[in-house]
Amino acid sequence: MPPRKIIIDTDPGQDDAVAILLALASPEEIDVLGITAVAGNVPLPLTAKNARIICELAGRPDLPVFAGCDTPLSRKLVTAEHVHGKTGLDGPDLPDPTMELQDTHGVDFIIDTLRSHPAGSITLCPLGPLTNIAQAFNKAPDIVEMVQEIVLMGGAYFEVGNITPTAEFNIYVDPEAAEIVFKSGAPVTVMPLDVTHKALVTTERNEAFRSIGTPIGLAVAQMTDFFERFDKEKYGSNGAPLHDPCVTAYLIRPELFSGRYINVEIETVSDLTLGMTVADWWGVSGRPANATFMGDVDAEGFFTLLTERLARI
Ligand code: RIB
Ligand code: CA
Repeated sequence: MPPRKIIIDTDPGQDDAVAILLALASPEEIDVLGITAVAGNVPLPLTAKNARIICELAGRPDLPVFAGCDTPLSRKLVTAEHVHGKTGLDGPDLPDPTMELQDTHGVDFIIDTLRSHPAGSITLCPLGPLTNIAQAFNKAPDIVEMVQEIVLMGGAYFEVGNITPTAEFNIYVDPEAAEIVFKSGAPVTVMPLDVTHKALVTTERNEAFRSIGTPIGLAVAQMTDFFERFDKEKYGSNGAPLHDPCVTAYLIRPELFSGRYINVEIETVSDLTLGMTVADWWGVSGRPANATFMGDVDAEGFFTLLTERLARI
């Protein structure tokens, strides 16, 4: 089976960084065509810088990185320095990038890539707010049916919210964009907090990263050491939840995950529940299914895969 051609759309973010490293460590399964940065965890200049820091950390200064949208479609940007630190990649001390940002806008790269490849051959992997994806669909509606699959990290049902009582951060930042993506008709697979909160970097797992004994292993251990604070304080979690790496792990070993094909709608009106993914897990709404919403993950299998692959870089 040839590797899957993907575009990673991202707001690094320590967990985004690990997701990108896992993808770059898995060329048999994943062919990363490019990385598009979006404003989210930190403002766009930083997410575009961090994406390049990660590419150089992985020894891939050749990988094209594009800056996308710097604000949500119609709202003020909300960021998450309280989770990821001022730089968005707090933890390890990594050098500034020397590789250049591409001149093309990230939204245009998404459009051009989908138009220049056979229909059904490109997978989009959004790891942050869905602004770039929604803008691409708005600007070029013809590309929607060209998409093989959208595998995204975002939303929550049983876990409810991490940025408000009802909303997960990626969806909350740009609910209008999320509504466009979930209503687009493109095949959508969702890694919500229901799954990512089961992928916790326990002390043993963090030690396993360090024991890889490479700069990558150390950097990942330091990143997850840093960004676990928020979840430990809020949820009493036993380590940092590796949200975004669930997306790239799914592309490598989908059998690690299980979920349901259900209807998922996005709250875009009520201030009280703005950005909530209203997931009809029990099939009571009568609304047509539009997304595969994951509910469980084999955490041991996930971390074994992740640690093995990180050791390759
Ligand atoms: O809610 C978790 C998500 O928000 C992750 O993608 C994290 O990187 C932030 O973007
Ligand atoms: Ca992210």
